[in-house]
Amino acid sequence: MDFYSTTKETAGIELGVYMCGIIAILSSKPVTGRLVEGLSRLEYRGYDSAGVATVHENTIFRKRAEGKLQSLKNLLQEEPISGKLGIGHTRWATHGSATKRNAHPHKTDRVAVVHNGIIENYQLLKNELVNSGVQFQSDTDTEVVVHLIDQALQSGKTPEIAVTETLKKLEGAFALAIIFKENSNLLIGARKGSPLVLGIGENELFLGSDAWALAPWTQKICYLEEGDIVIMKHDIAFDYVILNEDGQPVTRSVRQLEQEVNVASKGGYSHFMLKEIFEQPKTLANTISSLIDEKNLKSLINLPIDFSNERLTLRLVACGTSYYASLTAKYWFEKYARILCEVDLASEFRYRDPVLGRNDICIFISQSGETSDTLAALNLAKSRGCETLAIVNVPESSMIRAADHHILTLAGPEIGVASTKAFSAQLAVLCLLALDIASKRKTIDDATMKEFLHELLEVPNLVAKVLQDVSVFDQLGLRLSCSRDVLFIGRGTNYPIALEGALKLKELTYIHAEAYAAGELKHGPIALVDKLTPLIAIAPKDSWFEKTASNIQEVASRGAPIIVLTDDANFNMSSSEFHKILLPTSSPFSACFIYTVAVQCVAYYTALHKGTDVDQPRNLAKSVTVE
Ligand code: F6R
Repeated sequence: MDFYSTTKETAGIELGVYMCGIIAILSSKPVTGRLVEGLSRLEYRGYDSAGVATVHENTIFRKRAEGKLQSLKNLLQEEPISGKLGIGHTRWATHGSATKRNAHPHKTDRVAVVHNGIIENYQLLKNELVNSGVQFQSDTDTEVVVHLIDQALQSGKTPEIAVTETLKKLEGAFALAIIFKENSNLLIGARKGSPLVLGIGENELFLGSDAWALAPWTQKICYLEEGDIVIMKHDIAFDYVILNEDGQPVTRSVRQLEQEVNVASKGGYSHFMLKEIFEQPKTLANTISSLIDEKNLKSLINLPIDFSNERLTLRLVACGTSYYASLTAKYWFEKYARILCEVDLASEFRYRDPVLGRNDICIFISQSGETSDTLAALNLAKSRGCETLAIVNVPESSMIRAADHHILTLAGPEIGVASTKAFSAQLAVLCLLALDIASKRKTIDDATMKEFLHELLEVPNLVAKVLQDVSVFDQLGLRLSCSRDVLFIGRGTNYPIALEGALKLKELTYIHAEAYAAGELKHGPIALVDKLTPLIAIAPKDSWFEKTASNIQEVASRGAPIIVLTDDANFNMSSSEFHKILLPTSSPFSACFIYTVAVQCVAYYTALHKGTDVDQPRNLAKSVTVE
């Protein structure tokens, strides 16, 4: 076999690496509408294609559609399917096209399957199946699961045995939900490496990629563990059995979750993202007040971690926007707590064989608590004996369960794919943690601590002020929507905020945007500057202001349109291409919150004028559960 014939492309196989959301319902009532509703709550996991299948009158009915969930909804309206047992799937493909042919559920006449994860040995299994005469209908790895179960059923095995025998042959990661033509009262789920929860309702049982998907129907949730299989039946009553990896029946705890069921509404806003931007005064107030004793101006953070060690190193590890929150926090941990702080991208950290020692405390920052690279980095740190702390927005997430300690950001469910309120809540937690450690290490005195906490308590009001009049961002968005490239600059804690501004702009509008530390421009990037490339400068009147102002001048003198976000009412430039957005007066701590909200608004309104999909930008997914 030569080199080329061994590649996936030339083999005609598309590797089905998915993040994807899955849902399944076994009920005494029709399920199709609720499968779709559940999928809409899972769309954050992917939205390339979607599908549902039900069992009704000893037949498996299936509908699948390419593109967003709306296409499936439209299809089901024209061609409805019935059943009181069904499975659903929303897909995000990293390899292979997002076509109807590859959309889940995959099925034969006897069995249908939805899958989240990757079957790593699918090629071997597929070759064997093809040699035995099986014809494949899709290019996915998932389809091998369907055919293996089907073959076992054909040889007379029960569905339970057919599934357990098939699972033994699979390598890789999976969460599966499986239904059978001959059994309209049987649903089987299995998990290894991908999350799967069991929901227990009134006369119905559910499976979902997360508890949030099931929130409208049940808050009684059981988190399946690695290797678990759950067999759910409706005989006289609705009942289930969980088998562990060794096939032994086990009891897993059932938790009663507190979930707001109706948060998935836009509440009168045109987009979830806009709603979430405007929620920030409240989510910040919730997060900050959960960590500050307001009456005595004291930190309420009480982690059982010894931060007194002089040789301590903090290692902050995260991806994307959460990484930028970590970069911002580095300034705080070093300046106030005087602790060496290293910040890593999780995808690099996990593979670069980092030097980790007993003096290291590793902090993992994540909105979802499920990001594959961050979770793997956390497990790596644990395996090296480091103490781990997770700062996460989703309670009950994998990172919360895996880390030694955790702090919750109280941003509430974030639906818009681009992170906004979770980011500002991360900043709040990290800022308070830095101050808490600083106070314990006595690198700041009590009076300074109180002053800083007081400043932080003011943040929600300042953020509300930014949002009082968003027409300035609307006007700016109109102008920026015609740009091809945009540059951002900032210094100090506002350098990561510039990075976050550029990320928000590019992911929402597909406009190329880059951010640089303001002092770095002249070391190369200034070559990008021309009359068509606007510069957005984040320039609060802080100790670096004069230096940033000089950098702005350097760019202006090369003809670029200049947009300055500042609280300095006197800052002016003679250029006609100068635009200033005046923001509330900030302190060293409040600045990054104020400017974060400003750059979020810039990205949002630019996207609005450009007409891109704000809540579900192309190629993205909310929870990145593949590496
Ligand atoms: C961008 C964005 C992503 C996430 C990243 C990490 O708006 O949301 O960059 O920040 O995928 O996700 P979490 O924080 O869930 O680990």
